[in-house]
Amino acid sequence: MTVNEPAAIEPSTWGPLGGPRTESGGAVDTAHRPWWRDAVVYEVYPRSFRDSDGDGEGDLDGIRAGLDHLQDLGVDALWIAPWFPSPMADGGYDVSDYCSIDPRYGSLEDAVALLAEAHARGIRVIIDMVANHTALDHPWFTAALAAPEGSPERERFVFRDGRGPDGNEPPNNWISAFGGPAWERTTNPDGTPGQWYLHTFAPEQPDLNWTNEHVRTDFDGILRFWFDRGVDGIRVDAAPAFFKTPGLPDADYGGDLRFRSGEWVGNPHWDVDDVHDIFKRWRRVAEEYDGDRVLVAEAVVASPERLARYLAPDEIHTAFNFEFLKVPWDVGLRRVIDETRETLAPVGATATWVLGSHDELRLTTRYGRVDSSSEVGVSPDIPSDLALGTRRVRAAALLMLALPGTAYIYQGDELGLPSVDDIPEDRLQDPIWERSGHTLRGRDACRVPLPWHGDEPPYGFSPDGAISQPWLPQPAGWGALTVEAQAADPGSTLDVHRWALHLRRELPAFRTDDFAWRESPAEVLDFQRGPHLRCVVNLSGEPITLDPEWDVLISSVPLDGPVLEHDAAAWLTPRTS
Ligand code: GLC
Repeated sequence: MTVNEPAAIEPSTWGPLGGPRTESGGAVDTAHRPWWRDAVVYEVYPRSFRDSDGDGEGDLDGIRAGLDHLQDLGVDALWIAPWFPSPMADGGYDVSDYCSIDPRYGSLEDAVALLAEAHARGIRVIIDMVANHTALDHPWFTAALAAPEGSPERERFVFRDGRGPDGNEPPNNWISAFGGPAWERTTNPDGTPGQWYLHTFAPEQPDLNWTNEHVRTDFDGILRFWFDRGVDGIRVDAAPAFFKTPGLPDADYGGDLRFRSGEWVGNPHWDVDDVHDIFKRWRRVAEEYDGDRVLVAEAVVASPERLARYLAPDEIHTAFNFEFLKVPWDVGLRRVIDETRETLAPVGATATWVLGSHDELRLTTRYGRVDSSSEVGVSPDIPSDLALGTRRVRAAALLMLALPGTAYIYQGDELGLPSVDDIPEDRLQDPIWERSGHTLRGRDACRVPLPWHGDEPPYGFSPDGAISQPWLPQPAGWGALTVEAQAADPGSTLDVHRWALHLRRELPAFRTDDFAWRESPAEVLDFQRGPHLRCVVNLSGEPITLDPEWDVLISSVPLDGPVLEHDAAAWLTPRTS
C-alpha cells in the first residue's frame, strides 16, 4: 500500500494569507517511526455513516462510497466501530460472531474489499474488538445457558449462584455501566430460576471470563483472523473491564451507585492488575505481523499512572486520552496537554488527542455551552450557542492537529454537526434510555446519520427513493452542514479541517516529537513544533496581536491583519523576508 503520500485533494482557494505555505523545514525523526505515531484517525460509526442500499442504516458499501470524502479530508486511518453481526442491543457493542460482518452492513467479502480500497488510497483501518462481553445470542452464551452449572460452557462466562435463601439476590453488589445491578438471573430449561450471570454493561452483554484459557485462545484466533485479512489495528473496547478480582468480592462504591470508572481505585471489577496479562498476549499476536499493527485501548481509569500501565512497551501501543476529551474549552487545556505528555514520557508512549466519539455529546454543542465540560452533556435542556461552538470546534481542530501524537476525528465533527437533542422518545435506541428509567437520553444525539448533500433528510445519507427513513431521524436545517455544501464553502468547518490535514501531511515538523511551550499569557496557548511551526490558540475572550516575525499558514477564522480574535487558532511559520 502507499502511505504518507498526500491524498490528491482539490485545494480550496481559502487561506488567510493566500493559502497554506509548505516550505517550512524541520528535522524529521529518521529512526523507524510507526505510521500510527502521527496518524489522524477518523472514527466511522457504520450505522450512521452512509447507507448504500436504502434500508435506513449505513453499510460497508456506504463507507466505500464515502472514501472520496475521507481521502479529500486527508485522514491516515479509519477506526470502524463494531461491524460484526449483532442484535444491536448496544449499537453493535454486543457481538454474535467475531469473524463475520452484520448482514445489515454487508458481507465479509465487502469488508475485505473495503480494506483493499482503503489501502489503495493510503488509508489504514482499525477495527473495534469488543471482547469483554458477547451478545446474548452468541453461540458460546446460548451453549452456556443450555449447559448445567459448573460446565465448561458456563466457565466461558461469569455465572454464580445468587445470595439469599432462594438465591434471589445478585451474587454481589456490583453495578452496571448503564445503570442497575450488573447481574441478571437465568431461567433453567425446566422453568425454575437459575444462576446469575455478570454483565458490566447491558444485560444483553454477558461478560466473558478472561481467566478461562479457551476464551484467551479463541481471541488469539479472532485477532489473527482479522490481521490475516489486512486490518492495521485493533481498538480494545472496555479494556479495564476484562479481569475481575477472584472471589468477586463486593465493591466499595462509597455510597454512590453510579459507574465512575474514572475515579475508582481498588475496584474489584475495574482495572484489576491481572488485566495486563491479557493485553501482553494480544501484543505478542500483533507482533506476529508486519506493518506495525497497532492496539488502541479504551481505558477510562483513575489516574495517569494507572493508564500508563496499559501502555508499557510490551502491551498496548496507545490509549484514548479521555482527559483531553473531557476538559472544558479553557486554560485547563494546557494542564491536560502537560499531564498527558508527562504521563506518557516514562513509558515512551505516543499521546492521542480525541475530542469526540459515538459515546459523547457533540463537540459543537458542548463548546457552545457556558459550562463546556463534558459531564454536563447528558442533559438536552442546557442551552448552547452553536455559532460559538462552531467557532471553537474550528479552533480546537487546529489545536488538536498541531499536537504531537495521534489525533482522532469522530465522523461529523469535521462538519461541526451539533447534537440532536430532540429525537422523539419513541425513536431513542441507546440502552441507557431504558436502563436509566427514562431519565438519561443516552448517546443517540451524536449518532444521527451524516448529511452528505441536499436540503432535507436524508441529505444523501440514503440514496434517492430509499424505502426506509434513517434509523435515527435527522433534523431540518442541516442543508448548510452537508459535505457537499461545506466542500464548496471556503472557511467552512470542513475546509479548515482539510487545510489543516493537508498541511499536517506536508510539514516535516509533524513527523517529529518536537514540542515546546513559548512564553505567553495564561489564556493564550502558544507552542512550537521545531523551528518552523508554531500554534497559537486564543482562549482569552479578547483579540490578540500575532507576532510580526511569523506568517500565518492557516487560521480557524479569516484574519483581518495580524489580529487573532477570541476563540480562534492559527498555525504560524517564521517570516522569511
Ligand atoms: C465502549 C463503547 C461504548 C459501549 C461500551 C460497551 O465504551 O465505546 O459505545 O457501549 O464500550 O461495549
